[in-house]
Amino acid sequence: MTSPLRRPLIAGNWKMNLTLAQSVELAKAVKEGAASASGETAVAVAFTAIPVVAEVLRGSSVRLSGQDCHWEAQGAYTGEVSAEMLKDAGCQMVILGHSERRKLFGESDEQVNRKLGAALKAGLTPIVCVGETLDERETQKTWRVLETQIAGGLKGFAPADLSKIVIAYEPVWAIGTGKTATPAQAQEAHLFLRGQLKKLHGDAFAQGTRILYGGSVTAENVDSLMAQSDVDGALVGGASLKADAFKRIMAFKAP
Ligand code: PGA
Repeated sequence: MTSPLRRPLIAGNWKMNLTLAQSVELAKAVKEGAASASGETAVAVAFTAIPVVAEVLRGSSVRLSGQDCHWEAQGAYTGEVSAEMLKDAGCQMVILGHSERRKLFGESDEQVNRKLGAALKAGLTPIVCVGETLDERETQKTWRVLETQIAGGLKGFAPADLSKIVIAYEPVWAIGTGKTATPAQAQEAHLFLRGQLKKLHGDAFAQGTRILYGGSVTAENVDSLMAQSDVDGALVGGASLKADAFKRIMAFKAP
């Protein structure tokens, strides 16, 4: 179980799924599930669904997140959405550097770093994703990759700027594959990441920063992952689209 310094967070990432009607329906179920949640809950919805989901979640403890943002506040960036716009539409959080953005849209650590600055400036809680590919794990590059992504993504900020930041460890080989990291693998990587946070900004910062696990989290495996001392929550893709599964994940049981 996570340290009392860190409130567990279960965040659903709906990705590019659901119509407005489906988004409203699922948001209602998540809101209902919040009563029996074991920690904090958030949902990261498609840009178009943000206003309607914000309306459903009004007055509830469930937090609303974007799935990405641009690094500028406004301007001639066709197709982009800024952190300020997410905030204005009702978001409190934003996912940054998800592996799908890195892999499919060529997002670099430098871009994640700029987006982080924009999110913090807009007052959003950033969830910065890191994680190694299967090839990197098999060739013993996991630690180097995580070190580079953390150092590059968080570069140039003081610990006070980053007081709200959330890190998500998402091994790319576990995302959407049904192949979850074992609780021991997750704990090992989370401990390593906490060590990197300590190296950057000291022990108090490292101990106070939440690190979520993501990659094929289900209602069946959430409890064993959350039982690990450095796993402070989960970033959930596929299973967050099913109301019953996600409600069970929100109500995880950890010793
Ligand atoms: P998954 O996705 O739970 O479907 O593996 C996790 C994520 O991409 O955040």
